[in-house]
Amino acid sequence: MSSGGETIGIIGAGWVGLVTGACFADLGHRVIVRDVVPERIALLEAGKVPIYEPGLAEVLERNKERMSFTLELSDVTDQADFLFICVGTPPTYSGDADLSAVWAVVDELPLLERRAILIMKSTVPAGTGEKVRSALEDRGLGHLGYASSPEFLAEGRAIEDFLHPDRIVVGSFDSADGKRVGALYAGIDAPIVYSDVPSAEMIKLASNAFLATRISFINEIANVCELTGADVEQVAEGMGLDRRIGPHFLHAGIGYGGSCFPKDVTALKQLAGNSGYHFQLLSSVIEVNELQKRRVIGKLEKHLGSLAGKSIAILGLTFKPDTNDMREAASIVLGSRLLAEGAEVKAWDPLAERDSYLHGAQICDSVLEAVTDADAAVIVTEWKELRELASETVRSAMRNPLIIDGRNLLDPDQVCAAGFAYDCVGRPGHCNTDSGKAKLSEPQAE
Ligand SMILES: NC(=O)c1ccc[n+]([C@@H]2O[C@H](COP(=O)([O-])OP(=O)(O)OC[C@H]3O[C@@H](n4cnc5c(N)ncnc54)[C@H](O)[C@@H]3O)[C@@H](O)[C@H]2O)c1
Repeated sequence: MSSGGETIGIIGAGWVGLVTGACFADLGHRVIVRDVVPERIALLEAGKVPIYEPGLAEVLERNKERMSFTLELSDVTDQADFLFICVGTPPTYSGDADLSAVWAVVDELPLLERRAILIMKSTVPAGTGEKVRSALEDRGLGHLGYASSPEFLAEGRAIEDFLHPDRIVVGSFDSADGKRVGALYAGIDAPIVYSDVPSAEMIKLASNAFLATRISFINEIANVCELTGADVEQVAEGMGLDRRIGPHFLHAGIGYGGSCFPKDVTALKQLAGNSGYHFQLLSSVIEVNELQKRRVIGKLEKHLGSLAGKSIAILGLTFKPDTNDMREAASIVLGSRLLAEGAEVKAWDPLAERDSYLHGAQICDSVLEAVTDADAAVIVTEWKELRELASETVRSAMRNPLIIDGRNLLDPDQVCAAGFAYDCVGRPGHCNTDSGKAKLSEPQAE
């Protein structure tokens, strides 16, 4: 850890802003975090964490002397020489990135005299930095430095990802600015990729698009496995051992979700389109992902016939475990499709907030409550609590002991031996097992 440190401003106290701020404080810097939501700042000032992220509370607590929180941008700009923009960039209706929060920050910057550096951590389309620089010049702030340092952390392991990244990317218009920004990360053992600004912006978008492509690819392989008798887990293991391919992001399931992959893939596709290029591959990646979420409906119908009047337990609502983030979660699509088919939906999740994501679904306090009298239980998020799902208690509570495992979380042999009918993704040899208690109708074509 370096001592002394710089004064860093963090603008936006969401996942990226809080983790970035807390970790920079941990590296020895002084950090001022600004958000526009008063409740968020009040919670932080009271020593509470407004999001669920493992380890974040501890890092904030041990650095509380070095951190402060404010609603005023001037508190940040008066003191900090490095201003990290960490605001949200959600998709617009057209799929382009909504940069209104980014522009709100740029427009609100006071007429600073000293040479602070503005650093974009939010994910933005390639070309944004050029536009920001030109807007700064128009406002008489052309002397400010500008850098792009996109964030690659994943929710649920964000602290670990920030402090032990595979690489740090710093794009800048002026290489001296780039070096000053790179020096802030001193203490982190990772290569720093110095680049121009558009390339740094594109590294982020291309990385997420490539990971999403791998997921859609293995999901299509899984679907073909189901038709040909191959087991996608064995296929993925055999593929992943090839050093040219590698083992990561080859886990078949019901599709990717979350606040980043869906929006970043679409934003890159739109960016290409707006620039005159049709990014055909990404169109397919997106379509495959949408269809993958819906394949669960076909699997349920295969076992249960019409879903009207059937009771279905959705187990896991968040887009992945160890987060309370519901953005673009597969459960939202699945739940609303089930309700549209006339099914009764009961849902359980240990962290998701009981808000309006699934209108019409009954939110349950326990797995047992959700599966009681259910005709099927669908594993949507691989929470560790679900590893023991195939128990005698659950089997006897269900009206029809059928588990659809959308994440290939369970061992098929154990589940079948426990008396459940079981279906999963791309592992056909073990699937479709009838149980004594299950009343299955004729299979239907998907
Ligand atoms: N969440 C992730 O896993 C992740 C990972 C890598 C990159 N990113 C990118 O980082 C950016 C931030 O993502 P996030 O998940 O932290 O978003 P978030 O929605 O959790 O947080 C954004 C925060 O910015 C605040 N905000 C909005 N306008 C503001 C303003 N003018 N001044 C100060 N604060 C303002 C909001 O109130 C909110 O607290 C996005 O571009 C995202 O794509 C996210």
